[in-house]
Amino acid sequence: MRTHYSAELGAALIGKRVSIAGWAHRRRDHGGVIFIDLRDRDGLAQVVCDPDRAEAFRSADRVRSEFVLRVTGLVRARPAGTANPNLQSGEVEVLAQEVEILNPSLPPPFQLDDDNLSEQVRLEHRVLDLRREPMQKNLRLRHAVARAARAFLDAHAFVDIETPVLYKSTPEGAREFLVPSRLHDGHFYALPQSPQLFKQMLMIAGFDRYYQIVKCFRDEDLRADRQPEFTQIDIETSFLGEEAIRALMEALTRHMFREVLGVALPDPFPVMRYEDAMRDYGVDKPDLRIPLKLAELTDVMRDVDFKVFSAPASRVDGRVAALRVPGGGTLTRGEIDAYTEFVKALGAKGLAWIKVNERAKGAEGLQSPIVKNLHARALAAILERTGVADGDLIFFAADRADAANACLGALRQRVGHERGFAEKGWKPLWVVDFPMFEYDDEAKLWKARHHPFTSPKDGHEQFLESAPEKAYAKAYDLVLNGWEVAGGSVRIHRQEVQQQVFRGLKISPEDQRAKFGFLLDALQYGAPPHGGIAFGFDRLVALMAGVEAIRDVMAFPKTQRGQDLLTGAPSAVTEKQLRELHIRLRNAEQ
Ligand code: AMO
Ligand code: AMP
Repeated sequence: MRTHYSAELGAALIGKRVSIAGWAHRRRDHGGVIFIDLRDRDGLAQVVCDPDRAEAFRSADRVRSEFVLRVTGLVRARPAGTANPNLQSGEVEVLAQEVEILNPSLPPPFQLDDDNLSEQVRLEHRVLDLRREPMQKNLRLRHAVARAARAFLDAHAFVDIETPVLYKSTPEGAREFLVPSRLHDGHFYALPQSPQLFKQMLMIAGFDRYYQIVKCFRDEDLRADRQPEFTQIDIETSFLGEEAIRALMEALTRHMFREVLGVALPDPFPVMRYEDAMRDYGVDKPDLRIPLKLAELTDVMRDVDFKVFSAPASRVDGRVAALRVPGGGTLTRGEIDAYTEFVKALGAKGLAWIKVNERAKGAEGLQSPIVKNLHARALAAILERTGVADGDLIFFAADRADAANACLGALRQRVGHERGFAEKGWKPLWVVDFPMFEYDDEAKLWKARHHPFTSPKDGHEQFLESAPEKAYAKAYDLVLNGWEVAGGSVRIHRQEVQQQVFRGLKISPEDQRAKFGFLLDALQYGAPPHGGIAFGFDRLVALMAGVEAIRDVMAFPKTQRGQDLLTGAPSAVTEKQLRELHIRLRNAEQ
C-alpha cells in the first residue's frame, strides 16, 4: 500500500511520486487548501490537497482526526521559510493526487498531543494512548533494551529456556496469585514470583548458563516502581563465584547502555557494603547522584539532657543521626514544617533541626529549639561530623535505627532533588554483603532478606541457626540512580546447608518436604556451585526512558489498585465457571 514511511521523505525524492499511509494527526483547512499531517510509526508528513484535484480534495475534506489514510502524490520542497526542522520529513511535503480513506474514526476522546492527560483516561483508552509519541518511543526503547540484552547473553553462551507459569505455591517473600485447578478439587497453582527454583534446577540439570526475559507475578501493594506482573531479565550461571557473576552482569549493563543510549557507564561499578550504605545513606539503594551523607551521632547523645535523643541513643537498636543541608539556613518555618510532615508520614516522631548562623561562635551561632539541651561535646561533634558551614541547616532523626534510617534516607533523597544537589548522569552501584536474615516484628520470626536459597558467606553456616543476625549472605543488588534495578546471589548448592537455612527460618521438616522437596532432592544429585541475578526490566527501561512510573514503559499496565482499565480485569465470572473450579464465594452476590 505504501512506497515510503514518512521519515524517508526528503529532498532526494523531490519530483517523485510516493504513496504513504497512516493516521490523520491534524487537518487544517486554509481556505481552499487542506493540509493533513499524516502520522505513521516514524512521525509526520505534511500532505497538501488543493482543489485542482477534485476527487482527492473531496476526500480530504471528509478527513477528521485519526482517520486511516493512504495518500499518493508528488514530493515537493516546502515553500521557502516553511521547512520544519523538528520533523524528519520537514523539508518536503506531498502534493496529494489521491486521498483514500481506508477507515474513518470516531472523534478521539482526547487530543493525542495533549501532555496533561490523567492516568485514568490514558489507561481507559490505552489503545489511543499508545499511539502517542512518548509511548511509541518508550516501547521501542524497551524493545531495543531487550534486543541488546539478548545479543549480549547469546554471545556469552546463555541459553534461553522457558519455565512454567502455572507453578506451585512456594512462598518466596511476596504474596502469590493463585489459580484454582479444575481437575484437582481444592488444589491451586501459584503464579511464580520469579523462576528462581526452576533456574536453579536448570543449573543442576547441566545447562550451565540460562536466561529468560520473563513475566513474574506478585500480589503486593503497588507503587510507581511496582506492578503485580512485571518482567525480569532472569539469569543463572554455574561454576562462577560472586565477583565473577557481578563482573559479567556489569558488562551486560554497560552493553545495554552503550547499545541503546550510547552511554558509557563506569568500569568497574563502585561496590558498597550494605552496612556502609545504611550508615551513610540510610537506605540500601542510595542515589549517588546526591552527594549528601548522613552523620553518626549516637555515641555522643547517650548522656545529653534531651530524652528525644538520649533514649534512642542508649538503646542497642537505636540511632541518632543527622543530615546536613548545605545552604539550608534559608529554609522557612513553613518549609521545615513540610519536611517534618513528610517524615512523620513515614513514621518519624519529629524532625529536630539546627540552623548554623555562625559556626565559629559555637552554641551562640546556632539557631534551634534543641541547642539548649545539648552539651558542648555533643554540639562540637554535630558541627564536626556534619562538616557544616555558615548558612547550613542540620536535620536530626532519633529512633530505632531502622526508623531513623528510613526517615533520613527519604529526606536526603527529597531534599537532594528539591534543592538541586542531584548531579546529572548515571550512578550505578553494587550493594553487597547483605545480612542473610531480617527480623519480622509482627510474625516474631527471622525471614530471608533475599530469598531462602541464598548462600551464606563462607564460614557463616555456623550462625544460621544459633545467631541468625550474624549470618551474612553472598547477595548483591545493582542500584542505579537510587533504584534497585537488579538483585541476585550465589545459591546454596549443598542440601545440608539448605536445610540449615530452612531450620533457621523455622520451616518444619514436614513443610520443607511439602514445599521444597523437589529442590532438596535435586540438590542431592550433584548440584554444581551456581548463582545469578534478575534485572527488573521495567525499572531499567523506565530509567533509560527518563520516566518516573514503570507503567509508562509497559504496553498494558495495571493501576495502583491492580486493575486493567482497558479490558476491565479483574472481573466477576459466571456461577458455572466457579462450579467447575469447585469454588463458592464467601460473599456471593451473584
Ligand atoms: P528480586 O525479588 O530482587 O529477585 O527481583 C529482581 C528485580 O525485579 C524487580 N522487581 C519488580 N519490578 C516491578 N514490579 C515489582 N513488583 C517488582 N518486584 C521486583 C526489581 C528487583 O531488583 N529470583 C530473584 C533474583 C535472583 O536471586 O536471581 C528475584 O526475583 O528491580
Ligand atoms: P519536643 O521536645 O517533642 O518538642 O521535640 C523537640 C524537637 O525535636 C522538635 O523539633 C521535634 O520535631 C523533634 N523531635 C521529636 N522527636 C524526634 C525524633 N524522634 N527524632 C528527631 N527529632 C525529633
